[in-house]
Amino acid sequence: MPLRSFTTADLTGLSSALDFGDRILQHRAAAEVDDRFHDKPAKAAVLLSDDGRLTPLGVAVVYPAERRPGNSLPPWAMQFVLKKGEHRRLCELVSAVLPSEGCEVWVRPEDEGIVEEIQRCWPAAYNCRRLHLMTIDLPVAIEPLPSRPLDPNDPADLAAVVRVNNAAFGDHPDQSGMTQDSVLVKLAGPGHTAEGVRLAEIDGRINGFCWTQIHHRRGLGEISVIGLHPDVHGRGLGAAMTAAGLAWLHRQGLHQAILYVESANLTATRSYARLGFTVTHDDVSWMIPGSADD
Ligand SMILES: CC(C)(COP(=O)(O)OP(=O)(O)OC[C@H]1O[C@@H](n2cnc3c(N)ncnc32)[C@H](O)[C@@H]1OP(=O)(O)O)[C@@H](O)C(=O)NCCC(=O)NCCS
Repeated sequence: MPLRSFTTADLTGLSSALDFGDRILQHRAAAEVDDRFHDKPAKAAVLLSDDGRLTPLGVAVVYPAERRPGNSLPPWAMQFVLKKGEHRRLCELVSAVLPSEGCEVWVRPEDEGIVEEIQRCWPAAYNCRRLHLMTIDLPVAIEPLPSRPLDPNDPADLAAVVRVNNAAFGDHPDQSGMTQDSVLVKLAGPGHTAEGVRLAEIDGRINGFCWTQIHHRRGLGEISVIGLHPDVHGRGLGAAMTAAGLAWLHRQGLHQAILYVESANLTATRSYARLGFTVTHDDVSWMIPGSADD
């Protein structure tokens, strides 16, 4: 079968396989394109043409998704690229790495051919979430909230981030249920630093934070998480809290930042728009059932 599977250790070898002029993974190893793939126990498959030349036609990468305990979504997410005109090979590519628990598969909504293929191959698949990728040039004009870095050796700081995060995110599928341990694990990830986690004192206690990440290879900053305690919501502080993270990214020499936000989160999207963020594109997730659901 013209299909081969990879493990994380092989990910750097994907660069030549990905060199077929498509969008997100173009000319690069998956780990270079998206730091989420770095050092994670991911599975990847490359689909090759069966015309004797074994040209790469598509790549699918599966990575663990952070979920709050008890969440009903599967613990895996997948991104893939298929060469234009090869939509009909989708089932083959995705099935090669589909975990038995199923998977949340991310696609661009304008890829109608892909969406039709998903519905044809997996009739039980359903449309789950829509994220905006928003982009902004730095610096921004809005005055940041005064902030200081997280001290990862201070249990009170860790507790403050956990308290604000869990109050702010309720039952959000990815972001809720943070613990002091999960703060430290996230902090150890690529592009994360304690200095890049900006804490803000509001009404006499730490009531807000903005967690930034730097994609060094792309020279790009990311607002990874922004959270305000519900006690201080609705006072127009969201933009200023985000501005604290953006100011820190700009001090690191960066001139552009991105973030992902659920399109339904109107409070957040309005606050980002006020800062000057614009939507670059949307990503839509489809839940594809695995064999465990049979
Ligand atoms: C998102 C968050 C940081 C925004 O901060 P905030 O101080 O509560 O929000 P603001 O008071 O600045 O309001 C932001 C905008 O949303 C608007 N807004 C508030 N509630 C709204 C609603 N239910 N529907 C539509 N717009 C709403 C406000 O009018 C304001 O618009 P404007 O800037 O055009 O005046 C904060 O609500 C939060 O921490 N939420 C939980 C965590 C979260 O969702 N983080 C972002 C994930 S990416």
